[in-house]
Amino acid sequence: MKRIFEIDPWRVVTHQFKEEDKRLQESMTAIGNDYMGLRGNFEEGYSGDSLQGTYLAGVWFPDKTRVGWWKNGYPEYFGKSINAPSFIGLEITINDEKLDLAKVNFSDFELSLDMHQGLLTRSFIYEGKDVKVKFEFERFLHITLKEAALIKVKATVLSGEAHIEYKSTLDGKVVNEDSNYDEYFWLPIEEDQEARTIQVKTKENNFGVPQFTVLLKESLRHEGQAVTTEVASQEAKLAETFAIHLAEGESYEVEKDVIVVTSRDVADEDQKAKASELMAQLQSKTFEENLADHTAAWQKRWDMSDVVIAGDEAAQQGIRFNILQLFMTYYGEDERLNVGPKGFTGEKYGGATYWDTEAYIVPMYLGITKPEVTKALLQYRHDQLEGAYHNAKQQGLAGALFPMVTFTGVECHNEWEITFEEIHRNADIPFAIYQYTNYTGDESYVKDEGMDVLVGTARFWADRVHFSKWRNKYVIHGVTGPNEYENNVNNNWFTNTMARWLIKYTLERLPKATEEAQKRVNVTEEEKAKWQDIVDNMYLGEDKNLGIFLQQDDFLDKDIRPVSSIPEGQRPINQHWSWDKILRSPFIKQADVLQGIYFLNDEYTMEQKEKNFDFYEPLTVHESSLSPCIHSILAAELGKKEKAVELYQRTARLDLDNYNNDTVDGLHITSMSGSWLAIVQGFAGMRYNNDQLSFKPFIPDDWNKYSFKINYRDRLIQVEVDQAGSKLTLIKGENLPVLVSGKEVELKEGETINA
Ligand code: BGC
Repeated sequence: MKRIFEIDPWRVVTHQFKEEDKRLQESMTAIGNDYMGLRGNFEEGYSGDSLQGTYLAGVWFPDKTRVGWWKNGYPEYFGKSINAPSFIGLEITINDEKLDLAKVNFSDFELSLDMHQGLLTRSFIYEGKDVKVKFEFERFLHITLKEAALIKVKATVLSGEAHIEYKSTLDGKVVNEDSNYDEYFWLPIEEDQEARTIQVKTKENNFGVPQFTVLLKESLRHEGQAVTTEVASQEAKLAETFAIHLAEGESYEVEKDVIVVTSRDVADEDQKAKASELMAQLQSKTFEENLADHTAAWQKRWDMSDVVIAGDEAAQQGIRFNILQLFMTYYGEDERLNVGPKGFTGEKYGGATYWDTEAYIVPMYLGITKPEVTKALLQYRHDQLEGAYHNAKQQGLAGALFPMVTFTGVECHNEWEITFEEIHRNADIPFAIYQYTNYTGDESYVKDEGMDVLVGTARFWADRVHFSKWRNKYVIHGVTGPNEYENNVNNNWFTNTMARWLIKYTLERLPKATEEAQKRVNVTEEEKAKWQDIVDNMYLGEDKNLGIFLQQDDFLDKDIRPVSSIPEGQRPINQHWSWDKILRSPFIKQADVLQGIYFLNDEYTMEQKEKNFDFYEPLTVHESSLSPCIHSILAAELGKKEKAVELYQRTARLDLDNYNNDTVDGLHITSMSGSWLAIVQGFAGMRYNNDQLSFKPFIPDDWNKYSFKINYRDRLIQVEVDQAGSKLTLIKGENLPVLVSGKEVELKEGETINA
């Protein structure tokens, strides 16, 4: 655990600058507007260790696979949202000394991300030989004019005289640190000094992936007469230089406005004109007016989604940071997009789509965005079914296999234990159809397009299981469960359970599907009979003595001992132990059996939940960010308050406190929903089975109050919980009966009920 930012309910702020924490700081101060995003790199540049990162949603490149030993079925490339041309550059020289915080003297450093507005600010006093200059930076990515980035820098001479040179750059000569073959992914097309644009295009590839073209346009606004101005360009780069002379006490503001357009929305030949049009729109308002529009839009988002926690500022800061970062990554306004595990904050995971979306993002977004947002996420997978059929075929199997990592539906992950084995995803992804239908009551998707997904994946599972004559049961061999600290195991309980669930749900829904859908999927009687047989005879390992489900056939053979037995200084184990030692150990990376109990919550008794929790939680190292929230929710359900709170903190402050010592790579975006789920489904106990919304609230002992709002079937409901009890208010919508701690209450518009 490492905390480099201060506790503050609405800011992520620090007054320290340490070179060794630069990358971590950059991850923590990343900003985005779900069109593009940036790591917290410095505008003026930085010669120390840093990870330059600019990412454009949906702009990606197929990086040719590089593996030691090729295995049949491996994908040909790993898709990544590549590091895009950088546009924040504003190099500064004061009296011939280059401003570089790795080298110059400075004091009064402050770096702050304001969570109300997604506004990043930074200030410090440069201390030169005979001069002191205070610099104040502001930057945001506009959420109502998504192509726009705005940067403002104010210099105030505190003592001495300053000749300041500014060099504003657009830089298409960028690389990915994780490029498989150390190549440039971008080709220059044009630099236009007059229009102040550069245009670049992703390299050609042999995989049929379309090339993307990106055009950047900059325009500087500054008061006062510059001493010199010059524009220069070289391949894929453009620089505009000017200088100013300031006496003691004088200040000078420069604003750099940038427009970024891509071939996702605008054809190559129209990009320059479009960028000029958008720039004119941006510059029809001042920086402050644009910021006011942007802030007002953020306010609307917060009005719906803020979770207010009184009495615990660390917990408060955690959840706000997570909601902010999630929305900066994905707000559901572009249905071609999805949510990458690191969003726009780093290179790891390549900005691609994982099962994380359906398992973690969907249940939260159902609660705080319009149902259309989740439907678009479902549609995204439907649109990619062709790729899923391709993946199954690659493995020599029938049906559709959704990928672990993808942009198109085609798998692009290339480790056999994940690509071929971590197939639980093929039930978790369709599980979102059930979630959506159950939460919204809207059956239109499952009756029609959802059926294509269910039947495609059911066919895969029916082929992937095999019948064990010895057990007289269907079994699934050679898998990796959610716990990636075991590979090639047999009968991972979670995988078997979810595969069975998927086939069962498909069989249940099939007769209710539209005629057209039934015709399309064309499931034969023979198939149905086989599926039913699998449902009735799937092997699900359990140990009756211990009263637990078996994570996999050999789990109990392991040297079972709690995480507390790991010697100090050896966690996270993935950074200290050999892979072999990890695989043989009993330690669980992330919720596995408990993930299944969480998904299919109403199928298990409290006793089953408790026995499994008590057995598996002490073995879990939570080295996946996706883990602690699931355990927190179950702990809350079991009345294990302290554990629930501990695991909530771990989820909510995972990046803020760098729990897994890996936030340098980027933030854990997809698990950020976990803190919302831990409060709403955990502490407040929200469930929504069988058209019945219910709550079972508790409040941590140290908190005074928490409150949140949810959208549920055209109603807007506010839930407030304090030490005296809970209150439910139906802010908008028709009357609704709700269960609170087992008691039915009727919510009426405009009324608050004490429960
Ligand atoms: C987890 C996976 C997850 C991936 C991306 C891995 O560390 O084990 O379950 O899908 O990260 O978040």
